[in-house]
Amino acid sequence: MKPMKNSKNLLRRAKDLIPALSQTFSKGPYSYVEGVYPAYLSRGKGSHVFDVDGNEYIDYVMALGPIILGYNYRKVNQAIIQQLENGISFSIPHPLEVELSENMQSLIPGAEMVRFAKTGSDAGTATVRAARAITGRDNIAYWGGGGVWHDWFTAITSKNEGIPKILKKMVRKFNYNDIDSLKILFEDWHGEVAAVYMEPMMTEYPKNNFLQKVKQIAHKHGSLLIFDEVITGFRFANGGAQELLKVGADMVAFGKGIANGMPLGAITGKRQYMDIFNKVFYSTTYGGETLSLAAGMAVLGELKTKPVIKHCWNLGKVLISEFNRIAEELEVNIKMEGLPIRSSIICRDKNEDPSLLLKSLFYQETVRRGVLFGPGYVFLCYSHSPSDIKKTLKVCETSMKSMKIVKNAIKTNSVKKILQGNVMKRVMSF
Ligand SMILES: Cc1ncc(COP(=O)(O)O)c(C=O)c1O
Repeated sequence: MKPMKNSKNLLRRAKDLIPALSQTFSKGPYSYVEGVYPAYLSRGKGSHVFDVDGNEYIDYVMALGPIILGYNYRKVNQAIIQQLENGISFSIPHPLEVELSENMQSLIPGAEMVRFAKTGSDAGTATVRAARAITGRDNIAYWGGGGVWHDWFTAITSKNEGIPKILKKMVRKFNYNDIDSLKILFEDWHGEVAAVYMEPMMTEYPKNNFLQKVKQIAHKHGSLLIFDEVITGFRFANGGAQELLKVGADMVAFGKGIANGMPLGAITGKRQYMDIFNKVFYSTTYGGETLSLAAGMAVLGELKTKPVIKHCWNLGKVLISEFNRIAEELEVNIKMEGLPIRSSIICRDKNEDPSLLLKSLFYQETVRRGVLFGPGYVFLCYSHSPSDIKKTLKVCETSMKSMKIVKNAIKTNSVKKILQGNVMKRVMSF
């Protein structure tokens, strides 16, 4: 591993210049093991990324999810370059708005109409505004992993500075696979719920027809069911979790994987609901920016013609099962939990509590050996190869062996001495 002189230099310049040091909290140095991880990446190819000091890593962050095909992916590059030569943004819509909408319609269940967005937050917020406009109600029943930065949602998080307090009263969480928690919410808020806004699934499968029941309850009370498929879309199946789980929502928000890293989101849904966008103010200068739409066309083309999702599921299965087998054999308290296409690494202390300190130490060991895990989910892309997985497992094994030493070290309370950077920090809680 080459010394991270350039990373350190850039970070030093950023410290007095860029509040929060990054445009995305989850990418900032504090979200990783600061001092051990690279602070800046300069390029990527396939499943690998390279830092500004020339170190190479197998990446499992995938830019927090959008990279579904791979970095610097030829077909996406070609589509962007071809469109670039004709212009980026125009004064009147470009045909790609119609073409990509048609493509989405053919891939996404229930996509009777389509609008585009620049981010997952835009798309999610547009569906909430639509539901409020349609129902004339304000309140939202919520379940999911968060991520939307706009006021209506961030109000209920620990990072709610600057958000009118009144908004906090309008969003309440229910629990997954716990239909009673939703029923209670609807009883308390009788006739006041605009929508159930939820990720259809994070890492646990719905049980006892949970999603069908959610839909029934929402409709019984005149509310909409909105799925946030910003992570699950174009990752769980070509048609997202709606296809995998065979449950359709009234409106769906997409982002991340739709354009392999270009800033694009989308809203799909039933005509009777999507029609509201003729009225509500959902309109932005870059809404029809064509490089992202062209990238989206290329991504959907690859999804339709290549076994992208199957490949990720298959490699993910091997990664999870072998990772957990090695951990068990070595008797270390580390586990990869979740689904082959959306999992997390959990390190537990001797009381079996998830420990960010131990996780930071494990990540220190893996990143030094060329494997880049991130603060959130472990994601795979179509460019990950069986040899990437093999190498990763080897790195994890060696790193876990060093964790065995740490197991003893917990007793002597010297983990902090072994950790050469800062403990990773969580961005927010809610
Ligand atoms: C489930 C979910 N929804 C919405 C968002 C917001 O997407 P974006 O960061 O593109 O605004 C995120 C971001 O991580 C997310 O995880």
